[in-house]
Amino acid sequence: MKIIGTGRAHPSQVVTNAMLEQFLDTSDEWIKTRTGMSERRVISSEKLEDLASEAAAKAIEDAGLTAADIDYIICSNVVNEYITPGLSCIIQGAIGAKCACVDVNAACSGFIYALDMADDRIKSGKAKNILVVAAEEPTRMVDWKDRSLCVLFGDGAGAVVVTEGEGLICSRLTTVSKTDCLHYVRRLEPTPYITKEEHSAPMYMNGKEVFKTAVLSSSRDIKTLLSEAGLQPSDIKYYVLHQANMRIIEAIANWLKLDMSHFPTNVERCGNTSSASTALLLDELSREGKLQKGDKILLSAFGAGFTTGACIIEWTK
Ligand code: COA
Repeated sequence: MKIIGTGRAHPSQVVTNAMLEQFLDTSDEWIKTRTGMSERRVISSEKLEDLASEAAAKAIEDAGLTAADIDYIICSNVVNEYITPGLSCIIQGAIGAKCACVDVNAACSGFIYALDMADDRIKSGKAKNILVVAAEEPTRMVDWKDRSLCVLFGDGAGAVVVTEGEGLICSRLTTVSKTDCLHYVRRLEPTPYITKEEHSAPMYMNGKEVFKTAVLSSSRDIKTLLSEAGLQPSDIKYYVLHQANMRIIEAIANWLKLDMSHFPTNVERCGNTSSASTALLLDELSREGKLQKGDKILLSAFGAGFTTGACIIEWTK
């Protein structure tokens, strides 16, 4: 497959570190030093489905197609107002497409899992033009009284349209079942047959453990893919990494012995937008004219599971 269109949508509400200082025992200095974040966009009056549909429509327009040309929709999403139907079904209705739709939940790695699934479906001849959306509202999963978590996240939606082509050089997906360090549990409806106490709890994360696992697993994925593609680190124009923390991105840049010009970021403006982060960044780069035909881009993400996804793409647009 190859990417032929990109789009994104952000919530209108900007939440700066100074705004967080007003109701949390935190400081701009702590947040900037530990995470690199200055502000994030947070869902308020809008719905995630509206942002997802806006990003999707922009990607389809950028691809020079109409909704009628889309023959499959994959949406990467962890939570939204609906448990069912999937967000992809809602996007389909909003943009006026008629194709089959499916959601994938691979946490923050979901966009790369969805790209990989799209590639398989195109290769099998079952679809030609696929819309891949990553839409996330992690700010609705955290306790806003918990300073260690709520400062980290932002919401948003990014999208791409992919079609037949030679744009995906290689990809790598991994999962290690490890639910203790990062999870979010929702309460289910009671039944007469459930005797255990039901509970719902905001997201839990062991930040230090996730930090270490993230740096190690992303570095391992990058090394494996570079070797598989026969490329040197400097052959990659941009490393589009999951935007969880500036220090994780800097650690990977140091390990690769590359300067930060190869590592575009939006974490300082958007916070950690889960699987949307790499899709948002790709659209930013494309719309700012920073991607030229033939550029090699490496995407790498990690998330709850513990999942990781990485791929090298050649920009063909
Ligand atoms: N403001 C001020 N102080 C805070 C704070 C905040 N927002 N959040 C935590 N602290 C305090 C802690 O209470 C702790 O205080 P103590 O030493 O008195 O106990 C101190 O800061 C250090 O906390 P710690 O958790 O050790 O900080 P850290 O350097 O590990 O940074 C993270 C925390 C979350 C920024 C970092 O661990 C991280 O980025 N981890 C990876 C997260 C990630 O990638 N998640 C994405 C998964 S997809």
